[in-house]
Amino acid sequence: MESTIKFGIVGCGVIGPTHARSISEIEGAQLVAVADVVEEKAQALAEMYEVEAYTDYHKMLERQDIDVVSIATPSGMHADMGIDAARAGKHVIVEKPMDVRLDKADALIAACHEQGVKLCVISQHRFDHGIVDLKKAIQEGKLGTLAFGGGYTQWYRAQEYYDSGDWRGTWALDGGGALMNQSIHYVDMLQYMMGPVEEIHAYTARRAHVRIEVEDVSAATLKFKSGAIGVIEGMTAAFPGFDARLEIFGSDGGVIIENDKVKDWRLRDGEEYTPPQEDIPLIVGTSSADIWYLGHRREIQDMVDAIREDRPPLVTGEEGRKPLEIILAIYESARTGQTVKLA
Ligand SMILES: NC(=O)c1ccc[n+]([C@@H]2O[C@H](COP(=O)([O-])OP(=O)(O)OC[C@H]3O[C@@H](n4cnc5c(N)ncnc54)[C@H](O)[C@@H]3O)[C@@H](O)[C@H]2O)c1
Repeated sequence: MESTIKFGIVGCGVIGPTHARSISEIEGAQLVAVADVVEEKAQALAEMYEVEAYTDYHKMLERQDIDVVSIATPSGMHADMGIDAARAGKHVIVEKPMDVRLDKADALIAACHEQGVKLCVISQHRFDHGIVDLKKAIQEGKLGTLAFGGGYTQWYRAQEYYDSGDWRGTWALDGGGALMNQSIHYVDMLQYMMGPVEEIHAYTARRAHVRIEVEDVSAATLKFKSGAIGVIEGMTAAFPGFDARLEIFGSDGGVIIENDKVKDWRLRDGEEYTPPQEDIPLIVGTSSADIWYLGHRREIQDMVDAIREDRPPLVTGEEGRKPLEIILAIYESARTGQTVKLA
């Protein structure tokens, strides 16, 4: 019988518990410890899963029995903590964005390679059924030559959201606003479908919030290396909150994914879209909270499988770096007024 893969989590705020729940439901995986600088938060999550709580994550990293560390702290801490975990010999799962700076993201990737540990960046929507099916259809050439791709997140976050944590809405720790924290999911899926970006021209602004340093609206036009063009629209200023959409159009058809589900699937070959059966049985009903964590569960399952099979996870450090590079290029274009070319 294969040995259990043991996990520790750093950061027990909003998303840390989603990692805990996911790990607890994966066969052959076990949560053994959690860490948070706020003792009550660490204690509360530790009690829920009957594991040990730490206020200093370095102490947690000293444990020999931990195989994988999930990092769910403010974004600007991710690479430093990931490097500490890698140097302690642990495989690393890091929340999106993998960091807020490319040099730090590169240092994390390098540290994991040097230590021979695996690195997985959370981008849980890549595991949504519609996204998996669309990616396969593109790879099989069913959409023909890709012509246009759009990623739109017309979302809203109240001022109280930004006020709920000192790090939110700061350049140093959030790394940006609507794009870096929220729209990054759709930026990642757009580049996953359309391929590498060649150049970007963008505008950003802060229109609906105060006491934040960063943007709450942004619009970017893109040219992909393939020659296709596209658009990224990201906001947290669209009161009361509208939809998220991914639109991919090619010479032989187009697909629209809205709020993580296929909304329109029209191909020249006439193939109709049949949503697949849910692969993970829902244990407690079908409320949005029950469904919401499934992406994390699928991605962490992929990391567990990657460790067992000694293969890279679907979203490696190199993959997680791609949306970060695009978003930083959008910020540079907005700041300088220039078109930015990507490497
Ligand atoms: N994948 C997703 O859908 C998703 C959703 C929400 C958040 N996130 C990401 O997860 C990260 C955390 O976001 P959140 O909303 O959970 O934030 P949060 O503020 O609710 O939680 C962060 C936690 O980290 C703790 N922390 C800070 N410094 C620490 C340190 N040195 N050692 C240990 N713990 C420390 C804080 O006390 C806090 O409890 C962010 O990078 C965010 O982008 C991803």
